[in-house]
Parts: sequence; C-alpha cells; structure tokens
Amino acid sequence: MDERRSKIFRVRKGDTIGTDKGILRVDDVIGKEWGSEVRLSTGAKAYLLKPTPVDFTMRGFRRVTQVIYPKDSSLMVTLSGIGYGSRVLESGIGTGFLTAILAHVVGDAGHVYAYEIREEFARVALRNLSMMGLAERVTVKVRDIKQGIDEEGLDAAFLDLPDPWEVLKLLPGSLKPSSPVLVFVPSVNQVIKTLAWLKKGPYVDVRVYENILREYQPVPEALRPQTISVTHTGYIVFARLVRKTEDLPT
Ligand SMILES: C[S@@+](CC[C@H](N)C(=O)[O-])C[C@H]1O[C@@H](n2cnc3c(N)ncnc32)[C@H](O)[C@@H]1O
Repeated sequence: MDERRSKIFRVRKGDTIGTDKGILRVDDVIGKEWGSEVRLSTGAKAYLLKPTPVDFTMRGFRRVTQVIYPKDSSLMVTLSGIGYGSRVLESGIGTGFLTAILAHVVGDAGHVYAYEIREEFARVALRNLSMMGLAERVTVKVRDIKQGIDEEGLDAAFLDLPDPWEVLKLLPGSLKPSSPVLVFVPSVNQVIKTLAWLKKGPYVDVRVYENILREYQPVPEALRPQTISVTHTGYIVFARLVRKTEDLPT
C-alpha cells in the first residue's frame, strides 16, 4: 500500500474521488465488503480498508494543536490500565488525538470527561471525534481545569497541558484512590517540575518514560529505517494517587 495515496472519505452516492492514479467512482464502492479490490478510471487497483483509530487520527483529523502520537498514547493507555467501561479525565483536548484513543478504549459503557480552555479547539476536536462516531462517549467542558473538576470516582487522569502540576492537587477529589495519572509533557524542565509536585503527595509509584520508536521501510531488498521520522515527541510521567494518612478512618 502507498501511504501517500490512502484516503479517508465518507461514502455518498454519485461522488467521485480524484487521485493521481485515476478517479474512483464512489458508487463502485457502495455495497462492497471491507478488503475488496476496486478499480480506478485508469484501471489502477485500490483496496477498501476499514479505518482504524490511528488511520482516523493521523490521516483524517484536522490538526489545530500539538498532538499525542500513537506511539505515546498506546503506552499511556496500557500503563493506565483503563478498558471497557472506564471513566477517565482528560485535559486539554487539543485536536482530540488522545481523546479518540481513550474513547475507543473505554467503549460505549465508559466515558471521557475532557476539560479544554479554548472553545475553538474543543469544537474542532468534537468534529474530529464525530467523524469516528465517538463524540457521544466524550463530555467536553470548555473552561480552565484549574477552576475545578466536577466529576468524582474516575478511574484515571490524562494531562497534556503546559502546567500539569497545577492540576495534580485537584485530582484527589476526582479520582478513585490508587488510580493512575498520566502526564505528557514535551520538555525535561516540565518533567522536573511535575516530579517536584508529585513528591509533595499524595502520589506513589512515580515513573518517567521516553518512548522511542523506529519505523522501518517495509522493503525486503532494502530493509532499513524510514528516512524521515518524528524524532522527539515528549515524556510520559506516571504516578498512582493514594489516600493521605489523614484521610484514613481512625
Ligand atoms: C498540546 S494540546 C493537547 C493535545 C491533545 N492531547 C491531542 O492529542 O490532540 C494542549 C491543550 O491544552 C489546553 N489547555 C491549556 N491549559 C489549559 C487549562 N488550564 N485548562 C484546560 N485546557 C488547557 C490548550 O488549549 C490545548 O488545547
């Protein structure tokens, strides 16, 4: 498959999709099973592939902010232990890359509560999520998360905003004790500041990760790393929220 020639499109009767290899008549696609081969106007072959969440985010989403790439969101989700039915906190929503993965993982029995300070970003993110049919699993609150978190008893928190340490002190009222907190920050300075705040408690099991991924060009005759790749994304800080001694029943 040629990465540069893959397209995500909504099927509408009568439409045509132009490519440099020829034109695809959408009517030729309707009723075909996923994985089917179709022919363009020139006779060139194409395949109908059901988009995965990574396809939707990387190729279909309109981007308005820095985003959390799949290599980082996959590790964050795995570390968090969330799954079908989980209720999670996120801030900020940005473009909705991470939100899409969270909403996919929690399924229709779970929910994502996302706080975003910029209304225009919230609007774009919701439109992106609607494209995937996931908007109903997400409640977006357009405000500064530092003003307070409405929810209680959540299973995990995901923070991707410039000053996550300001939010750490609000989490004890919103997360179940023992819940994982995942912080994503692009610079080492922010990691250091986050660690300093985590040390003040009530957090334990603190870990810092940088996930380095190298993709190879899938060519048997010339197997080697891709020439161009994203070299730096950010750091993941993990911690678990605990009950403070003074919270314990006497
Ligand atoms: C880097 S972007 C998040 C990208 C997102 N994780 C994604 O994968 O698409 C950071 C977002 O945090 C938002 N933000 C910054 N400070 C905030 C605050 N105090 N409360 C809520 N949102 C905030 C910004 O407006 C921005 O949309």
